Amino acid sequence: MPIKVNLASSDPLSIAVDVVVIGVPEGASTGEGVLARLAEALGESVAHQVKRDDFTGKKDQSIDFVTNGALKPGRVLLLGLGSGKVSDVECRLLAAKGARFANGVRAESVAVVVPPGVERGERAAAEGLVLGAYRFTRYFTGDRVPKFGLSRGTVVIEGKAGKAARDAVALGQQVGDAICVARDLVNEPPNELYPEALARVAADVGKQHGLKVTVFDKAALIKRGMKLIMAVGQGSAREPRLIHMVYAPAGKPKGKLAFVGKGLTFDSGGLCIKPAPGMEEMKGDMGGAANVVALMAAVAAAKPNVEVHGIIGSAENMPDGAAYRPGDIFGSLDGRTVEIINTDAEGRLVLADCLAYARALKPDFIVDNATLTGACVVALGPTVSGFFSNREELAERMRSAAKAAGESMWQLPLAEELREGLKSDWADIKHTADRWGGAITAALFLREFVGDVPWVHVDIAGPSMASKPYGIVSKGGTGHGVLTFLRLIEGFTG
Ligand code: BES
Ligand code: MN
Ligand code: ZN
Repeated sequence: MPIKVNLASSDPLSIAVDVVVIGVPEGASTGEGVLARLAEALGESVAHQVKRDDFTGKKDQSIDFVTNGALKPGRVLLLGLGSGKVSDVECRLLAAKGARFANGVRAESVAVVVPPGVERGERAAAEGLVLGAYRFTRYFTGDRVPKFGLSRGTVVIEGKAGKAARDAVALGQQVGDAICVARDLVNEPPNELYPEALARVAADVGKQHGLKVTVFDKAALIKRGMKLIMAVGQGSAREPRLIHMVYAPAGKPKGKLAFVGKGLTFDSGGLCIKPAPGMEEMKGDMGGAANVVALMAAVAAAKPNVEVHGIIGSAENMPDGAAYRPGDIFGSLDGRTVEIINTDAEGRLVLADCLAYARALKPDFIVDNATLTGACVVALGPTVSGFFSNREELAERMRSAAKAAGESMWQLPLAEELREGLKSDWADIKHTADRWGGAITAALFLREFVGDVPWVHVDIAGPSMASKPYGIVSKGGTGHGVLTFLRLIEGFTG
């Protein structure tokens, strides 16, 4: 059962919940604040525990108390806030850590206190509760079916619980839920989630949120000339799809934005097959597409005054008698021909047709996101995505959106020197170059298909999946990128 979050303005130690989570500023002592109240209710053990753990409210410190009926909450979890002003990003993290702790102690309800003076704290806390409570248990049976689950969350604020705060919590819940949709999609196994199934989910999300969704099936892809998407999918028993989702605001929009996602529901590498160890992770090669579905749901909830298009290219990359081969040459929606070098560099081919499609919508800018290259993970590690842009001003906006959203993104260069590596002797262009700078040459290939539309490419190959929980992120699919893209959209002024 997914967690349902509400708002309260009561005394946190008087709420009947299994776990209450309270941030404590650095320099805390048992003589004041929440620790003093706990000492009063629970006795000497509080001071002992605080001393033993050397808990002073430093960042990342935590301490928890079981109340045994002495207080309304069953447990009180204190998390160190460190010194200085608390941001909404830290507030989200506080709530997520609290919810994860609550999950760990088999709680059904959790409350988190928004530290005083946090701007946008209510929304962030609600997002954090939902994201921290997330688990993917669909395929467990028998003993492994969870016997408990966090079903109630409360965001506790100091002041009056007015309409603005209630709306903020409701929006935070919806944004959190949207990101969980992305996580679910990444975590779904590839036998269940193939391109047609992904399109079905996108259509369902669209129906729930009042979005227009158009799905191009095989016949439509052929008719439109999306030859690169078709090429990548031709070795699979599952047909490829292009999915186009549209959010249109009630009033006159300030502009039009397009978000593109790579939707490889499984990437075996094709004929250039990947090594077996770790191949199962390639079920998550549709993380970019999952983000687009989630983003569209979040946008529908946030209702910005701008038109937003979500475009997903989805295929399954398989080796087969009908599979595309190195040496093949295909046309593209853009018109240019591409020589295939390595069938494992399939994502950029699918994206190329999506970008040409997006460009025809004449958007103010295009952002694509994709689990595109192992090279990007080598460069930046598993928690940071790399982004590229053909406009410095837009790159700047992406950088500040990521910072404000609390997601790690780092700009990489579109190094012109490497462009010659994409020259082909037999077609207009080839899709891979040398080994070195693999994330960059992938981006340079994509750039060929955006014309002069302002564009950002985000390579999420690292952070789209997590091998263990950290921050607001759970193991498996993360939805990394959605919060940043939402920030970018909400900050768009035309
Ligand atoms: N989906 C992979 C990239 C990837 C790697 C995503 C690791 C997540 C984790 C992509 O399609 C791929 O195979 N890229 C190749 C490109 C190469 C053949 C030029 C790569 O990175 O090795
Ligand atoms: Mn690949
Ligand atoms: Zn791939």
